Amino acid sequence: MIPHNAVITEVIQQTPTITTLKTDIKLEALPGQFVMVWVRGLDEVPMALSHPDSITVQRVGEATVALSGMRVGDSIGIRGPFGNGFQLKGTRIMLIAGGVGGAPLLPLALLAHAKRLDVTTIIGARTGNELLFEQPFSQSGSVSVATDDGSKGYHGFVTGLMDRFDLESFDQFYVCGPELMMKNVLNMLQVKGIEMRSQLSLHRYFKCGIGVCGACTIDPSGQRVCKDGPVFQADMLIYSELGKYHRDATGKKIVY
Ligand SMILES: Cc1cc2nc3c(=O)[nH]c(=O)nc-3n(C[C@H](O)[C@H](O)[C@H](O)COP(=O)(O)OP(=O)(O)OC[C@H]3O[C@@H](n4cnc5c(N)ncnc54)[C@H](O)[C@@H]3O)c2cc1C
Ligand code: FES
Repeated sequence: MIPHNAVITEVIQQTPTITTLKTDIKLEALPGQFVMVWVRGLDEVPMALSHPDSITVQRVGEATVALSGMRVGDSIGIRGPFGNGFQLKGTRIMLIAGGVGGAPLLPLALLAHAKRLDVTTIIGARTGNELLFEQPFSQSGSVSVATDDGSKGYHGFVTGLMDRFDLESFDQFYVCGPELMMKNVLNMLQVKGIEMRSQLSLHRYFKCGIGVCGACTIDPSGQRVCKDGPVFQADMLIYSELGKYHRDATGKKIVY
């Protein structure tokens, strides 16, 4: 429970809003597990491990702006890894990454490749220069990209691009990205009757990160995203708050 002190050894600007911080500690974790990152004097926030020694941060608010501004030699506190992570199933899999959602999916792609699975990755972003990890994902299999503004790859949402694939031929779908994107992917798989082949990683506001405080529970199941997730199968999410609302630090509902 006591954070490890991690010193930043390299800062990589991945996109205009996304930065990878490499540190001097390596953690053994399942792809999709997360760590609690303590930004001293400010906050503690959940982050996936994009590599055993790295986190990949998108600037959205106070803590992530501070992390994105860190330099080599600065330090953060790290607790974890926590949560359940993704489970590899079958031989032919599709990864669907929206924005910084590529962070927990990259280690999964590398593990799947090492196990000789057939990996197809779809990466979506608002615009071409915000596509994350296109090159590293391509080391594990084929990659297709979609941008909202059409500046690179397919012009439109990842679901439009998915439609070009024979989805029934995939054994499992792994999804992480903006919540409305995940909801649309789930709806699409549901229409085809293959939603139970999906695993989705959820982002929620976390306080303790270890299942004690209840800040991250999802309705109506009461499952805690930090302890029972962050990865859930479709049956836990289809009739849930996914894509409808989440809660802020005070517990107030924020409708999408
Ligand atoms: C299991 C898990 C893994 C995560 N992995 C990563 C990762 O690898 N890289 C990364 O950049 N981010 C990741 N996140 C999201 C990250 O924790 C939040 O972006 C961060 O806590 C925001 O803190 P802040 O102080 O910068 O922003 P705040 O000031 O707290 O919020 C700024 C804005 O971001 C929104 N926001 C805050 N927290 C979240 C959240 N958890 N999900 C969605 N929107 C949020 C708020 O509603 C607000 O609009 C992960 C979240 C979870 C739960
Ligand atoms: S953040 Fe405290 S129970 Fe999940």
